[in-house]
Amino acid sequence: MGFPIRGPEPIAMQWNVERKDAWETQADLIVVGVFEAEKDAPFPKSLAADDRGAGGLLSAAWGRAEIRGKRAESTIIALPGGVRRLLVVGLGPADRYSSEACRVAGGLVSKTLRGKTAHVGAVRVSTISSRRVPAPEAASAFVDGLELGDYEFKRYKTQPRPPVLESLLLALGKELGATAATVRKALDRQRVLTTSVTWSRDIGNLAANVATPEYLAEQAQSLQKEFGLKVTVFDEKQLEEMGCGGILAVGGGSALHPPRMIAIEYPGKGSKPSKTVALVGKGICFDSGGISIKPALHMAEMRFDKSGAVAVLATMRAIAQLKVAPRVIGVMCCAENVPSGSAYRPGDVVKTFGGKTIEVLNTDAEGRVVLSDGLSWVNAIHHPDEIIDLATLTGACVVALGFDHAGLLSTSDRLAGDLLRSSQATGEPLWRLPLTPVHHEMVKSEVADVKNSTEIPAAGTLTAAAFLHAFVGETPWAHLDIAGTAYVSAISARHTPPYNPTGFNGFGIRLLCHYLSGGA
Ligand code: BES
Ligand code: ZN
Ligand code: ZN
Repeated sequence: MGFPIRGPEPIAMQWNVERKDAWETQADLIVVGVFEAEKDAPFPKSLAADDRGAGGLLSAAWGRAEIRGKRAESTIIALPGGVRRLLVVGLGPADRYSSEACRVAGGLVSKTLRGKTAHVGAVRVSTISSRRVPAPEAASAFVDGLELGDYEFKRYKTQPRPPVLESLLLALGKELGATAATVRKALDRQRVLTTSVTWSRDIGNLAANVATPEYLAEQAQSLQKEFGLKVTVFDEKQLEEMGCGGILAVGGGSALHPPRMIAIEYPGKGSKPSKTVALVGKGICFDSGGISIKPALHMAEMRFDKSGAVAVLATMRAIAQLKVAPRVIGVMCCAENVPSGSAYRPGDVVKTFGGKTIEVLNTDAEGRVVLSDGLSWVNAIHHPDEIIDLATLTGACVVALGFDHAGLLSTSDRLAGDLLRSSQATGEPLWRLPLTPVHHEMVKSEVADVKNSTEIPAAGTLTAAAFLHAFVGETPWAHLDIAGTAYVSAISARHTPPYNPTGFNGFGIRLLCHYLSGGA
Protein backbone atom coordinates (compact mmCIF):
# COMPACT_ATOMS: atom_id res chain seq x y z
CA MET A 1 0.00 0.00 0.00
CA GLY A 2 1.98 2.86 -1.28
CA PHE A 3 5.15 0.79 -0.97
CA PRO A 4 7.28 0.05 -3.97
CA ILE A 5 6.56 -3.61 -4.55
CA ARG A 6 9.58 -5.68 -5.31
CA GLY A 7 9.43 -9.43 -5.57
CA PRO A 8 12.28 -11.65 -4.44
CA GLU A 9 15.37 -10.10 -6.02
CA PRO A 10 18.05 -11.81 -8.07
CA ILE A 11 21.66 -11.34 -6.98
CA ALA A 12 23.15 -8.34 -8.75
CA MET A 13 26.88 -9.03 -8.52
CA GLN A 14 28.54 -10.73 -11.50
CA TRP A 15 31.56 -12.95 -11.02
CA ASN A 16 34.07 -14.73 -13.20
CA VAL A 17 37.10 -16.95 -12.75
CA GLU A 18 40.39 -16.55 -14.58
CA ARG A 19 43.96 -17.60 -14.11
CA LYS A 20 45.31 -14.10 -14.07
CA ASP A 21 47.41 -11.79 -11.94
CA ALA A 22 44.90 -9.58 -10.10
CA TRP A 23 47.35 -6.68 -10.33
CA GLU A 24 47.27 -6.90 -14.13
CA THR A 25 43.48 -6.36 -14.30
CA GLN A 26 41.27 -3.28 -14.36
CA ALA A 27 40.01 -4.00 -10.84
CA ASP A 28 39.69 -0.92 -8.64
CA LEU A 29 39.70 -3.12 -5.54
CA ILE A 30 42.08 -5.98 -4.89
CA VAL A 31 41.22 -8.35 -2.06
CA VAL A 32 43.69 -10.63 -0.32
CA GLY A 33 43.41 -12.78 2.78
CA VAL A 34 46.05 -13.26 5.44
CA PHE A 35 46.32 -15.86 8.19
CA GLU A 36 46.87 -14.90 11.77
CA ALA A 37 50.48 -14.28 12.72
CA GLU A 38 52.42 -13.69 15.95
CA LYS A 39 52.98 -10.14 17.16
CA ASP A 40 56.55 -9.92 15.83
CA ALA A 41 56.15 -12.22 12.84
CA PRO A 42 57.94 -11.26 9.64
CA PHE A 43 55.93 -9.95 6.67
CA PRO A 44 54.22 -12.98 5.02
CA LYS A 45 55.71 -14.16 1.71
CA SER A 46 52.20 -14.83 0.34
CA LEU A 47 51.67 -11.06 0.16
CA ALA A 48 54.98 -10.14 -1.50
CA ALA A 49 53.34 -9.49 -4.89
CA ASP A 50 50.71 -7.31 -3.24
CA ASP A 51 53.31 -5.31 -1.40
CA ARG A 52 55.06 -4.66 -4.69
CA GLY A 53 51.74 -3.61 -6.25
CA ALA A 54 51.09 -1.37 -3.26
CA GLY A 55 54.51 0.25 -3.47
CA GLY A 56 55.53 -0.97 0.00
CA LEU A 57 52.44 0.39 1.80
CA LEU A 58 51.39 -3.11 2.82
CA SER A 59 54.64 -4.14 4.48
CA ALA A 60 54.71 -0.73 6.15
CA ALA A 61 51.25 -1.37 7.64
CA TRP A 62 52.45 -4.82 8.72
CA GLY A 63 55.51 -3.23 10.32
CA ARG A 64 53.21 -1.03 12.40
CA ALA A 65 51.30 -4.19 13.40
CA GLU A 66 48.10 -2.79 11.90
CA ILE A 67 47.60 -6.07 10.12
CA ARG A 68 47.96 -9.43 11.89
CA GLY A 69 45.42 -11.62 10.10
CA LYS A 70 43.03 -11.92 13.03
CA ARG A 71 39.44 -12.93 12.35
CA ALA A 72 37.21 -9.84 11.97
CA GLU A 73 40.22 -7.69 11.02
CA SER A 74 39.90 -5.81 7.74
CA THR A 75 42.14 -3.07 6.43
CA ILE A 76 41.72 -0.85 3.40
CA ILE A 77 44.86 0.62 1.91
CA ALA A 78 44.37 3.40 -0.63
CA LEU A 79 47.05 3.17 -3.29
CA PRO A 80 48.88 6.08 -4.85
CA GLY A 81 47.06 7.44 -7.90
CA GLY A 82 43.74 7.58 -6.08
CA VAL A 83 41.98 4.89 -8.10
CA ARG A 84 42.89 1.55 -6.69
CA ARG A 85 42.50 0.15 -3.20
CA LEU A 86 43.77 -2.98 -1.50
CA LEU A 87 41.62 -4.74 1.05
CA VAL A 88 43.35 -7.13 3.42
CA VAL A 89 41.03 -9.44 5.32
CA GLY A 90 42.07 -11.49 8.36
CA LEU A 91 41.40 -15.23 8.13
CA GLY A 92 42.29 -16.28 11.68
CA PRO A 93 44.67 -19.15 12.52
CA ALA A 94 45.81 -21.21 9.49
CA ASP A 95 45.55 -24.50 11.40
CA ARG A 96 41.89 -23.85 12.17
CA TYR A 97 40.95 -22.48 8.73
CA SER A 98 37.63 -23.77 7.37
CA SER A 99 35.19 -22.88 4.63
CA GLU A 100 33.13 -21.19 7.36
CA ALA A 101 36.09 -18.95 8.25
CA CYS A 102 36.29 -18.13 4.56
CA ARG A 103 32.57 -17.32 4.41
CA VAL A 104 33.04 -15.04 7.44
CA ALA A 105 35.88 -13.29 5.56
CA GLY A 106 33.59 -12.77 2.55
CA GLY A 107 30.90 -11.34 4.83
CA LEU A 108 33.44 -9.03 6.42
CA VAL A 109 34.54 -7.77 3.01
CA SER A 110 30.89 -6.85 2.28
CA LYS A 111 30.53 -5.04 5.57
CA THR A 112 33.80 -3.20 5.06
CA LEU A 113 32.89 -2.08 1.55
CA ARG A 114 29.45 -0.80 2.39
CA GLY A 115 29.15 2.85 1.48
CA LYS A 116 32.52 2.85 -0.29
CA THR A 117 32.47 3.12 -4.04
CA ALA A 118 34.38 0.13 -5.34
CA HIS A 119 33.07 -1.23 -8.63
CA VAL A 120 35.23 -4.03 -9.91
CA GLY A 121 36.86 -6.35 -7.39
CA ALA A 122 39.51 -9.00 -7.86
CA VAL A 123 40.29 -11.50 -5.12
CA ARG A 124 43.57 -13.40 -5.15
CA VAL A 125 42.23 -16.90 -4.52
CA SER A 126 45.61 -18.32 -3.50
CA THR A 127 45.58 -16.04 -0.43
CA ILE A 128 42.19 -17.30 0.80
CA SER A 129 42.74 -20.99 0.08
CA SER A 130 44.96 -23.57 1.73
CA ARG A 131 45.48 -27.31 1.98
CA ARG A 132 42.57 -27.37 4.47
CA VAL A 133 40.26 -25.33 2.21
CA PRO A 134 41.16 -25.83 -1.45
CA ALA A 135 40.44 -23.17 -4.06
CA PRO A 136 37.00 -24.34 -5.30
CA GLU A 137 35.68 -24.56 -1.73
CA ALA A 138 37.35 -21.30 -0.69
CA ALA A 139 36.11 -19.37 -3.72
CA SER A 140 32.52 -20.52 -3.23
CA ALA A 141 32.45 -19.91 0.53
CA PHE A 142 33.98 -16.47 0.02
CA VAL A 143 31.47 -15.45 -2.66
CA ASP A 144 28.64 -16.88 -0.53
CA GLY A 145 29.78 -14.77 2.44
CA LEU A 146 30.17 -11.69 0.27
CA GLU A 147 26.70 -11.98 -1.25
CA LEU A 148 24.91 -12.96 1.95
CA GLY A 149 26.70 -10.14 3.78
CA ASP A 150 25.56 -7.68 1.13
CA TYR A 151 21.93 -8.77 1.46
CA GLU A 152 19.42 -6.05 2.16
CA PHE A 153 15.68 -6.53 2.63
CA LYS A 154 14.66 -4.03 -0.03
CA ARG A 155 10.92 -4.34 -0.18
CA TYR A 156 10.14 -1.29 1.92
CA LYS A 157 13.15 0.79 0.91
CA THR A 158 12.43 3.70 -1.40
CA GLN A 159 16.17 3.93 -2.05
CA PRO A 160 17.73 0.49 -1.84
CA ARG A 161 21.50 0.49 -1.69
CA PRO A 162 23.52 -0.69 -4.67
CA PRO A 163 25.54 -3.91 -4.41
CA VAL A 164 28.99 -3.44 -2.81
CA LEU A 165 30.61 -4.62 -6.03
CA GLU A 166 29.31 -4.77 -9.59
CA SER A 167 31.61 -7.63 -10.41
CA LEU A 168 34.20 -9.83 -8.80
CA LEU A 169 37.06 -11.61 -10.51
CA LEU A 170 38.33 -14.74 -8.79
CA ALA A 171 41.93 -14.50 -9.86
CA LEU A 172 43.66 -17.87 -9.74
CA GLY A 173 47.38 -18.20 -9.27
CA LYS A 174 49.32 -21.25 -8.18
CA GLU A 175 46.53 -23.02 -6.29
CA LEU A 176 47.17 -26.70 -5.73
CA GLY A 177 45.30 -28.89 -8.18
CA ALA A 178 42.49 -26.43 -8.94
CA THR A 179 41.57 -25.39 -12.45
CA ALA A 180 39.37 -22.50 -13.52
CA ALA A 181 36.81 -25.12 -14.52
CA THR A 182 36.65 -26.79 -11.08
CA VAL A 183 36.37 -23.41 -9.38
CA ARG A 184 33.63 -22.33 -11.81
CA LYS A 185 31.71 -25.56 -11.19
CA ALA A 186 31.86 -25.06 -7.42
CA LEU A 187 30.67 -21.47 -7.84
CA ASP A 188 27.75 -22.54 -10.03
CA ARG A 189 26.58 -24.92 -7.33
CA GLN A 190 27.16 -22.28 -4.69
CA ARG A 191 25.05 -19.78 -6.60
CA VAL A 192 22.02 -22.08 -6.32
CA LEU A 193 22.46 -22.16 -2.56
CA THR A 194 23.16 -18.46 -2.16
CA THR A 195 20.17 -17.43 -4.28
CA SER A 196 17.92 -19.82 -2.38
CA VAL A 197 19.05 -18.22 0.88
CA THR A 198 18.57 -14.63 -0.35
CA TRP A 199 15.21 -15.65 -1.86
CA SER A 200 14.19 -17.11 1.51
CA ARG A 201 15.28 -13.89 3.24
CA ASP A 202 13.00 -11.85 0.98
CA ILE A 203 10.11 -14.02 2.19
CA GLY A 204 11.16 -14.63 5.79
CA ASN A 205 11.62 -10.93 6.46
CA LEU A 206 8.08 -10.05 5.43
CA ALA A 207 5.75 -9.09 8.22
CA ALA A 208 2.53 -10.90 8.94
CA ASN A 209 0.38 -8.36 7.10
CA VAL A 210 1.94 -9.64 3.87
CA ALA A 211 3.35 -13.08 4.62
CA THR A 212 0.10 -14.81 5.49
CA PRO A 213 -0.48 -18.57 5.20
CA GLU A 214 -2.06 -17.94 1.77
CA TYR A 215 1.00 -15.93 0.69
CA LEU A 216 3.34 -18.75 1.71
CA ALA A 217 1.14 -21.13 -0.26
CA GLU A 218 1.50 -18.87 -3.32
CA GLN A 219 5.28 -18.84 -2.93
CA ALA A 220 5.25 -22.63 -2.77
CA GLN A 221 3.08 -22.76 -5.90
CA SER A 222 5.63 -20.58 -7.69
CA LEU A 223 8.06 -23.51 -7.30
CA GLN A 224 5.67 -25.68 -9.25
CA LYS A 225 5.74 -23.22 -12.14
CA GLU A 226 9.46 -22.53 -11.99
CA PHE A 227 10.94 -25.91 -11.11
CA GLY A 228 8.15 -28.41 -11.76
CA LEU A 229 7.79 -29.45 -8.11
CA LYS A 230 4.38 -30.86 -7.21
CA VAL A 231 2.70 -28.53 -4.73
CA THR A 232 -0.50 -29.29 -2.81
CA VAL A 233 -2.17 -26.68 -0.65
CA PHE A 234 -4.71 -27.83 1.92
CA ASP A 235 -7.11 -25.06 2.90
CA GLU A 236 -9.19 -24.94 6.06
CA LYS A 237 -12.03 -26.99 4.55
CA GLN A 238 -9.69 -29.75 3.43
CA LEU A 239 -7.87 -29.65 6.78
CA GLU A 240 -11.24 -30.16 8.46
CA GLU A 241 -12.00 -33.19 6.26
CA MET A 242 -8.54 -34.61 6.95
CA GLY A 243 -8.96 -34.22 10.69
CA CYS A 244 -6.08 -31.78 11.14
CA GLY A 245 -7.51 -30.36 14.37
CA GLY A 246 -4.13 -29.00 15.53
CA ILE A 247 -3.52 -26.57 12.66
CA LEU A 248 -7.20 -25.62 12.67
CA ALA A 249 -7.19 -24.87 16.40
CA VAL A 250 -4.11 -22.66 16.21
CA GLY A 251 -5.28 -20.88 13.04
CA GLY A 252 -8.84 -20.51 14.30
CA GLY A 253 -8.23 -17.16 15.97
CA SER A 254 -7.42 -15.33 12.76
CA ALA A 255 -10.40 -13.54 11.23
CA LEU A 256 -8.71 -12.83 7.92
CA HIS A 257 -5.97 -15.39 7.35
CA PRO A 258 -7.03 -19.01 7.70
CA PRO A 259 -4.39 -21.75 8.09
CA ARG A 260 -2.81 -23.76 5.31
CA MET A 261 -0.85 -26.97 5.19
CA ILE A 262 1.41 -27.02 2.15
CA ALA A 263 3.14 -30.08 0.72
CA ILE A 264 5.94 -29.82 -1.85
CA GLU A 265 7.19 -32.98 -3.53
CA TYR A 266 10.58 -33.48 -5.12
CA PRO A 267 10.64 -36.89 -6.83
CA GLY A 268 14.33 -37.71 -6.35
CA LYS A 269 16.92 -38.54 -8.92
CA GLY A 270 16.32 -41.42 -11.32
CA SER A 271 13.41 -43.83 -11.35
CA LYS A 272 14.19 -45.42 -7.98
CA PRO A 273 15.27 -42.79 -5.45
CA SER A 274 17.57 -43.97 -2.65
CA LYS A 275 15.18 -42.98 0.14
CA THR A 276 12.40 -40.59 1.07
CA VAL A 277 13.11 -37.75 3.46
CA ALA A 278 10.35 -35.60 4.92
CA LEU A 279 11.09 -32.01 5.94
CA VAL A 280 8.46 -30.39 8.15
CA GLY A 281 8.52 -26.69 9.06
CA LYS A 282 6.72 -24.59 11.64
CA GLY A 283 5.05 -21.75 9.76
CA ILE A 284 3.49 -19.47 12.34
CA CYS A 285 3.11 -16.24 10.38
CA PHE A 286 2.69 -14.35 13.61
CA ASP A 287 2.84 -15.69 17.14
CA SER A 288 1.14 -13.32 19.54
CA GLY A 289 0.78 -16.22 21.97
CA GLY A 290 -3.00 -16.27 21.36
CA ILE A 291 -5.18 -16.18 24.48
CA SER A 292 -2.02 -16.93 26.53
CA ILE A 293 -0.75 -13.66 25.09
CA LYS A 294 2.90 -12.70 25.06
CA PRO A 295 4.27 -9.48 26.58
CA ALA A 296 4.47 -6.55 24.12
CA LEU A 297 8.25 -6.13 24.29
CA HIS A 298 9.85 -7.89 21.31
CA MET A 299 6.51 -9.34 20.19
CA ALA A 300 7.23 -7.97 16.68
CA GLU A 301 10.01 -10.56 16.39
CA MET A 302 7.33 -13.21 16.25
CA ARG A 303 6.87 -12.45 12.54
CA PHE A 304 9.89 -14.74 12.26
CA ASP A 305 7.99 -17.63 13.80
CA LYS A 306 7.48 -18.94 10.26
CA SER A 307 11.23 -19.48 9.84
CA GLY A 308 11.11 -23.29 9.88
CA ALA A 309 8.54 -23.37 7.07
CA VAL A 310 10.43 -20.76 5.02
CA ALA A 311 13.64 -22.79 5.40
CA VAL A 312 11.81 -25.89 4.16
CA LEU A 313 10.40 -23.91 1.22
CA ALA A 314 13.80 -22.59 0.15
CA THR A 315 15.48 -25.97 0.65
CA MET A 316 12.93 -27.49 -1.76
CA ARG A 317 13.75 -24.74 -4.24
CA ALA A 318 17.47 -25.43 -3.97
CA ILE A 319 17.34 -29.24 -4.16
CA ALA A 320 15.16 -29.09 -7.26
CA GLN A 321 18.10 -27.38 -8.96
CA LEU A 322 20.84 -29.41 -7.29
CA LYS A 323 18.93 -32.57 -8.26
CA VAL A 324 19.76 -34.44 -5.07
CA ALA A 325 19.33 -38.24 -4.95
CA PRO A 326 16.58 -38.78 -2.33
CA ARG A 327 12.91 -38.14 -2.79
CA VAL A 328 12.00 -35.23 -0.51
CA ILE A 329 8.60 -34.16 0.77
CA GLY A 330 8.48 -30.68 2.27
CA VAL A 331 5.56 -29.82 4.54
CA MET A 332 4.82 -26.32 5.79
CA CYS A 333 2.38 -25.98 8.69
CA CYS A 334 1.14 -22.42 8.39
CA ALA A 335 -1.17 -20.48 10.68
CA GLU A 336 -1.48 -17.18 12.48
CA ASN A 337 -1.65 -17.44 16.28
CA VAL A 338 -3.80 -14.54 17.47
CA PRO A 339 -6.45 -14.08 20.18
CA SER A 340 -10.08 -13.53 19.24
CA GLY A 341 -13.53 -14.90 19.94
CA SER A 342 -12.77 -17.85 17.70
CA ALA A 343 -9.31 -18.53 19.09
CA TYR A 344 -8.49 -21.81 20.83
CA ARG A 345 -8.30 -21.63 24.62
CA PRO A 346 -6.18 -23.05 27.43
CA GLY A 347 -7.97 -26.20 28.58
CA ASP A 348 -9.26 -27.14 25.11
CA VAL A 349 -8.63 -30.63 23.85
CA VAL A 350 -8.04 -31.03 20.11
CA LYS A 351 -7.86 -34.10 17.90
CA THR A 352 -5.06 -34.24 15.33
CA PHE A 353 -4.57 -36.08 12.04
CA GLY A 354 -4.58 -39.80 12.79
CA GLY A 355 -6.58 -39.39 15.97
CA LYS A 356 -4.13 -38.51 18.75
CA THR A 357 -5.41 -35.88 21.17
CA ILE A 358 -3.74 -32.83 22.66
CA GLU A 359 -4.66 -31.03 25.85
CA VAL A 360 -3.91 -27.35 25.27
CA LEU A 361 -2.60 -25.80 28.47
CA ASN A 362 -0.92 -22.80 26.90
CA THR A 363 -1.95 -21.39 23.52
CA ASP A 364 1.56 -19.94 23.14
CA ALA A 365 2.95 -23.46 22.79
CA GLU A 366 1.31 -23.52 19.34
CA GLY A 367 4.24 -24.66 17.21
CA ARG A 368 4.11 -28.22 18.47
CA VAL A 369 0.32 -28.21 17.92
CA VAL A 370 0.56 -27.31 14.20
CA LEU A 371 3.52 -29.66 13.72
CA SER A 372 1.56 -32.58 15.19
CA ASP A 373 -0.66 -32.63 12.09
CA GLY A 374 2.18 -32.09 9.62
CA LEU A 375 4.35 -34.81 11.14
CA SER A 376 1.62 -37.44 11.40
CA TRP A 377 0.22 -36.59 7.97
CA VAL A 378 3.54 -36.90 6.14
CA ASN A 379 4.39 -40.07 8.05
CA ALA A 380 1.09 -41.78 7.22
CA ILE A 381 0.73 -40.59 3.62
CA HIS A 382 4.29 -40.52 2.27
CA HIS A 383 5.99 -43.24 4.39
CA PRO A 384 9.29 -41.38 4.69
CA ASP A 385 12.44 -43.22 5.72
CA GLU A 386 13.25 -40.31 7.98
CA ILE A 387 11.74 -37.04 9.13
CA ILE A 388 13.50 -33.77 9.92
CA ASP A 389 11.55 -30.87 11.35
CA LEU A 390 12.61 -27.27 11.79
CA ALA A 391 10.88 -24.94 14.20
CA THR A 392 11.38 -21.75 16.17
CA LEU A 393 9.87 -23.84 18.91
CA THR A 394 11.00 -22.73 22.36
CA GLY A 395 12.34 -19.68 24.13
CA ALA A 396 14.07 -22.23 26.37
CA CYS A 397 16.36 -23.16 23.48
CA VAL A 398 17.52 -19.53 23.24
CA VAL A 399 18.19 -19.56 26.98
CA ALA A 400 20.14 -22.82 26.73
CA LEU A 401 22.13 -22.32 23.52
CA GLY A 402 21.93 -18.64 22.63
CA PHE A 403 22.06 -17.34 19.09
CA ASP A 404 24.62 -19.47 17.31
CA HIS A 405 23.68 -23.11 17.91
CA ALA A 406 20.33 -24.64 17.06
CA GLY A 407 19.14 -27.50 19.27
CA LEU A 408 19.18 -30.99 17.73
CA LEU A 409 17.03 -33.71 19.23
CA SER A 410 16.81 -37.06 17.54
CA THR A 411 15.71 -40.65 17.90
CA SER A 412 18.41 -41.80 15.47
CA ASP A 413 22.13 -41.62 16.22
CA ARG A 414 22.86 -42.16 12.53
CA LEU A 415 20.65 -39.24 11.42
CA ALA A 416 21.90 -37.00 14.23
CA GLY A 417 25.51 -37.85 13.37
CA ASP A 418 25.01 -37.07 9.69
CA LEU A 419 23.29 -33.77 10.50
CA LEU A 420 26.10 -32.82 12.88
CA ARG A 421 28.64 -33.51 10.12
CA SER A 422 26.67 -31.37 7.65
CA SER A 423 26.43 -28.70 10.32
CA GLN A 424 30.22 -28.71 10.71
CA ALA A 425 30.72 -28.51 6.96
CA THR A 426 28.30 -25.65 6.33
CA GLY A 427 28.90 -23.43 9.34
CA GLU A 428 25.37 -23.77 10.69
CA PRO A 429 26.05 -25.03 14.21
CA LEU A 430 23.88 -27.65 15.91
CA TRP A 431 24.15 -28.93 19.45
CA ARG A 432 22.57 -32.24 20.34
CA LEU A 433 20.35 -32.29 23.41
CA PRO A 434 18.99 -35.37 25.21
CA LEU A 435 15.58 -36.92 24.83
CA THR A 436 14.73 -39.56 27.45
CA PRO A 437 11.67 -41.34 28.88
CA VAL A 438 11.61 -38.69 31.62
CA HIS A 439 10.70 -36.05 29.04
CA HIS A 440 8.03 -38.26 27.49
CA GLU A 441 6.54 -38.77 30.93
CA MET A 442 6.46 -35.01 31.45
CA VAL A 443 4.17 -34.36 28.46
CA LYS A 444 1.59 -37.06 29.27
CA SER A 445 -1.84 -35.56 29.92
CA GLU A 446 -4.50 -36.49 32.45
CA VAL A 447 -7.29 -35.98 29.93
CA ALA A 448 -5.69 -36.45 26.51
CA ASP A 449 -2.75 -38.29 24.95
CA VAL A 450 -0.30 -35.41 25.40
CA LYS A 451 -0.33 -31.89 26.80
CA ASN A 452 1.26 -28.97 24.99
CA SER A 453 2.85 -27.44 28.08
CA THR A 454 4.17 -28.86 31.31
CA GLU A 455 3.56 -25.52 33.05
CA ILE A 456 6.89 -25.87 34.83
CA PRO A 457 9.99 -23.97 33.71
CA ALA A 458 12.21 -27.01 33.27
CA ALA A 459 13.72 -28.59 30.16
CA GLY A 460 11.35 -26.67 27.88
CA THR A 461 13.19 -27.59 24.66
CA LEU A 462 13.36 -31.25 25.60
CA THR A 463 9.73 -31.59 26.59
CA ALA A 464 8.68 -29.81 23.38
CA ALA A 465 10.68 -32.40 21.42
CA ALA A 466 9.19 -35.23 23.48
CA PHE A 467 5.75 -33.90 22.51
CA LEU A 468 6.67 -33.95 18.80
CA HIS A 469 8.02 -37.48 19.14
CA ALA A 470 4.50 -38.69 19.86
CA PHE A 471 3.58 -37.82 16.25
CA VAL A 472 6.39 -39.45 14.29
CA GLY A 473 5.88 -43.07 15.37
CA GLU A 474 8.89 -45.31 14.75
CA THR A 475 10.26 -43.32 11.82
CA PRO A 476 13.81 -42.08 12.45
CA TRP A 477 13.41 -38.41 13.26
CA ALA A 478 15.42 -35.30 14.02
CA HIS A 479 14.09 -32.02 15.35
CA LEU A 480 15.96 -28.73 14.93
CA ASP A 481 14.92 -26.03 17.38
CA ILE A 482 15.97 -22.89 15.51
CA ALA A 483 14.41 -20.33 17.88
CA GLY A 484 17.77 -18.68 18.58
CA THR A 485 19.37 -19.01 15.16
CA ALA A 486 16.66 -18.25 12.58
CA TYR A 487 16.89 -14.48 12.72
CA VAL A 488 19.19 -11.76 13.93
CA SER A 489 17.72 -9.18 16.29
CA ALA A 490 19.24 -5.92 17.49
CA ILE A 491 20.37 -7.86 20.57
CA SER A 492 22.04 -10.74 18.76
CA ALA A 493 23.54 -8.65 15.91
CA ARG A 494 26.87 -8.29 17.73
CA HIS A 495 27.22 -12.04 18.10
CA THR A 496 26.44 -13.13 14.59
CA PRO A 497 28.73 -13.75 11.61
CA PRO A 498 29.07 -10.73 9.29
CA TYR A 499 27.28 -12.55 6.47
CA ASN A 500 24.05 -12.52 8.48
CA PRO A 501 22.51 -9.03 8.50
CA THR A 502 19.68 -8.22 10.92
CA GLY A 503 16.46 -10.10 10.21
CA PHE A 504 15.65 -13.55 8.88
CA ASN A 505 18.83 -15.32 7.77
CA GLY A 506 17.77 -18.65 6.27
CA PHE A 507 19.40 -20.88 8.90
CA GLY A 508 19.15 -24.57 7.98
CA ILE A 509 19.03 -24.28 4.19
CA ARG A 510 22.76 -24.84 3.58
CA LEU A 511 22.83 -27.56 6.21
CA LEU A 512 19.85 -29.47 4.78
CA CYS A 513 21.08 -29.15 1.19
CA HIS A 514 24.45 -30.53 2.27
CA TYR A 515 22.80 -33.44 4.06
CA LEU A 516 20.43 -34.19 1.17
CA SER A 517 23.33 -34.06 -1.28
CA GLY A 518 24.83 -36.99 0.62
CA GLY A 519 27.25 -34.83 2.58
CA ALA A 520 28.68 -32.88 -0.35
N1 BES B 1 7.57 -19.02 18.97
C1 BES B 1 7.78 -19.27 20.35
C2 BES B 1 9.23 -19.62 20.68
C3 BES B 1 10.27 -18.55 20.45
C4 BES B 1 10.70 -17.74 21.49
C5 BES B 1 10.86 -18.40 19.21
C6 BES B 1 11.67 -16.80 21.26
C7 BES B 1 11.83 -17.45 18.98
C8 BES B 1 12.25 -16.65 20.02
C9 BES B 1 6.92 -20.43 20.81
O1 BES B 1 5.72 -20.61 20.14
C10 BES B 1 6.59 -20.21 22.25
O2 BES B 1 6.03 -19.21 22.55
N2 BES B 1 6.96 -21.16 23.10
C11 BES B 1 6.72 -21.05 24.49
C12 BES B 1 6.33 -22.42 24.99
C13 BES B 1 5.78 -22.45 26.40
C14 BES B 1 4.50 -21.68 26.46
C15 BES B 1 5.57 -23.88 26.81
C16 BES B 1 8.00 -20.57 25.18
O3 BES B 1 9.08 -20.94 24.74
O4 BES B 1 7.88 -19.81 26.13
ZN1 ZN C 1 4.17 -19.41 20.93
ZN1 ZN D 1 5.72 -19.88 18.18
